[in-house]
Amino acid sequence: MNILMVTSEAVPFAKTGGLADAVSALSIALSKLGHDVRIVLPRYYRIDRSALELIPGPMGVHCGYQEIWTGLYTTKLPGSDVPVYFIDHEQTYGRDGIYGVPGETDFNDNPQRFSLLGHAAFQLCRKINWMPDIVHAHDWAAALAPILLKFHGEYHDFSSTASVFTIHNMGYQGVYGKHQYPHTGLSWDSFYAAGFEDWDRMNFLKAALVSSDKLTTVSPTYAQEIQRPEYGFRMDGILRYRSQDLIGILNGVDTEIWNPAKDKLIPVRYTAKTLDKKAENKKALQKRMGLEENPNIPIVGMITRLADQKGVSELFGPAYGSAYRICTEIDLQMVILGSGEDWCEKELSTLNRELPNFSAYIGYDEDLSHLIEAGSDFFLMPSRYEPCGLNQMYSLIYGTLPIVRRTGGLVDTVQNYNEQTGEGTGFILDNLTPQSIYDTVGWAAYAWYNKPKHIRAMQLQGMKQKFGWDISAKKYEDVYKSALLEK
Ligand code: ADP
Ligand code: GLC
Repeated sequence: MNILMVTSEAVPFAKTGGLADAVSALSIALSKLGHDVRIVLPRYYRIDRSALELIPGPMGVHCGYQEIWTGLYTTKLPGSDVPVYFIDHEQTYGRDGIYGVPGETDFNDNPQRFSLLGHAAFQLCRKINWMPDIVHAHDWAAALAPILLKFHGEYHDFSSTASVFTIHNMGYQGVYGKHQYPHTGLSWDSFYAAGFEDWDRMNFLKAALVSSDKLTTVSPTYAQEIQRPEYGFRMDGILRYRSQDLIGILNGVDTEIWNPAKDKLIPVRYTAKTLDKKAENKKALQKRMGLEENPNIPIVGMITRLADQKGVSELFGPAYGSAYRICTEIDLQMVILGSGEDWCEKELSTLNRELPNFSAYIGYDEDLSHLIEAGSDFFLMPSRYEPCGLNQMYSLIYGTLPIVRRTGGLVDTVQNYNEQTGEGTGFILDNLTPQSIYDTVGWAAYAWYNKPKHIRAMQLQGMKQKFGWDISAKKYEDVYKSALLEK
């Protein structure tokens, strides 16, 4: 099959979260199954044009009231034959930030920027003379592609192409004033028919949920959860209506990058058989984070966007968050790598100053993220909701026991510790409250000090788990086939 991935993020070019990892790894896995997979995304300012190949001639994209003349660049996804195409338009994408910058977290012209992406995806196919069987769009920023396919008259040459839309996160929908709607280039009839209308505003995600042939999301549990009001972010009704076309497929892990036996970003590599070597990574992590170099104290690690989704209010909320009590009342060290909401970054700096056993690095750091996975004993993810979550899977592979909330993909990947039998791969908390995070971290630390055999058995059990993208890619293949069949 010819498959076009439309996305605002793909590693190694542009990333704010797991979406970028998922799109690239899925594309590679599908191409290994024999499909012709190609990716299209904007050429943001930070993507160096000199490392890309220019496809000669400008590309005119009819987008709303205007015709926008863009450049087109290409390269291959590293380590694969998957072509990646970059839509180059200085005024639209030539700036720092994918969706925004600190101080303007959602660019005012995002409806226009991501409408251009949707239209350019089709224009690109015409220009390179390659017709996709499937247009697979990811999250709201790419939502216009399936909507155009169904509702825009200009794209009738794509009439045999089917669309698949993957929800990586219901919390981000692309909701804007409807005066921005003309940028989509669609008529006002489609405003209603495609499902854009949302309390008299426009909603990109909602329109994609209505318009796409098939919907997927990134774990089976999340596919169920979002059909309920607590997790549906007001879209649960549409999702219940479309439940026959909604499939949950767990993300995989790119085991070329996340593998303690091969990882070049950690000081000492190890496997289940040489698990004792993990201690050397722990020592290196303590050193790097300025903590006491002590093998006899457990480290709880975290790598996260500092956003409400991740449970950071309950953990770090000034005055009520549990991190302070965790670090002062439980004998452990805590290491956190993250960036995001301003109040939270400030709170982390305060804890950094006040607590000798707490160390936070505020920013984005790929190398440190590998060291935290390899060097920590536990990995904390008390998410409010978690469509899939990648770090708990990395943790399992690295013999680092996840402490997670019972939600979304966390449920599908972590088995709770059974203190009678020693079975399980991690520790699960039900309610997202400061107290229950405290209790569960305390439970994990208790087991670490008092049940070392259980801890070791859980680590080994976790390291055996298989999260290969090959398994997930086959499930996407089935979704594509049924989308084409039902078209
Ligand atoms: P989400 O996409 O909701 O942020 P995921 O768990 O799916 O959550 O993916 C997050 C990805 O981003 C992981 O690969 C994680 O290691 C990475 N990540 C998040 N914050 C940082 C950071 N500050 N530095 C390095 N990597 C980070
Ligand atoms: C989103 C979700 C995360 C998921 C990732 C990749 O950012 O928050 O849970 O793992 O997308 O699908």
